[in-house]
Amino acid sequence: MPGKPQPVRKAVLPVAGMGTRFLPATKAVPKEMLPVVDKPVVQYAVEEAREAGIEQFIFVTGRGKGIIEDHFDHAYELEALLSEREKAGELNSLLEDLPVTGAVSFTRQQKPLGLGHAVWCARHLVGEEPFAVLLPDDLLVGEPGGLAQMMEAYNRVGGGVIVAAEEKPLEEVKRYGVITPGKIDGNAVEVKAVIEKPEPAKAPSRLCIIGRYILQPEIFGELDRQEPGAGGEIQLTDSMARLIGRVPFHAVRTACARYDCGDRLGFLQANLALALRRPDIAPELRRLLAEIGP
Ligand code: UTP
Repeated sequence: MPGKPQPVRKAVLPVAGMGTRFLPATKAVPKEMLPVVDKPVVQYAVEEAREAGIEQFIFVTGRGKGIIEDHFDHAYELEALLSEREKAGELNSLLEDLPVTGAVSFTRQQKPLGLGHAVWCARHLVGEEPFAVLLPDDLLVGEPGGLAQMMEAYNRVGGGVIVAAEEKPLEEVKRYGVITPGKIDGNAVEVKAVIEKPEPAKAPSRLCIIGRYILQPEIFGELDRQEPGAGGEIQLTDSMARLIGRVPFHAVRTACARYDCGDRLGFLQANLALALRRPDIAPELRRLLAEIGP
């Protein structure tokens, strides 16, 4: 039996991307603040991380992303107004959503040079311990949440690197980091190699990495190289690949539905799917959809 691995207390949320797939909506509004039903997509990721035991949230932001900071702070005028108007339900739910003071930190990625670079920007805030990375535009819906399922696997396989993965159609693999799978252990599969955005003919499998990771601090030594990879960006996958053989490395197929909210269709699908789960909205929404017709 592997020993108990070091607990994962910190999460990095990279939110400095430019959201070019969702223009013009994302010209002035960060894509992470677009609402799925009535909550900004970034808040789902924070809730998922909190449920998985994360205590410290590190946002890697960029210019124009200031409202993400405001979202995780008090809104005094609004709170005073809700209190005056005796809207206790709304007020309490705003206050309950607030992170504990000091649990949220922000650093800036001065240029969007890629996901690997964004994670590297958080190196001093993470320090020498394992940490999670959540890409908020990947919305995972499941019980328990995606990161909690990965934490369970992390503890079971003895720690190391864990990535969330999903089987994709062959024509889509060139948008993802793709895994060469090894031995299977429940929902976890050993990762023998990873390659970023391969052409379908060169893909080692259809098992693709999605936006959740548990990483070890050794990754920063690799990211220090600042080597551009696929698309000229500093890729997280390339640095993770160099950890194979040095730390245990597994991919977890989470039992979650995943919606890519950085993409128009994925975003619309997430809104419909989550609204149809809401008893206060679903009946009326079904009626409206029937009205629109097929
Ligand atoms: P994406 O590739 O989905 O984000 O990166 P993007 O670059 O904003 O999207 P498009 O393709 O132009 O529409 C995944 C995550 O990594 C972050 C993004 O904010 C997103 O959460 N990211 C990406 C950074 O923080 N910095 C980067 O340089 C790149």
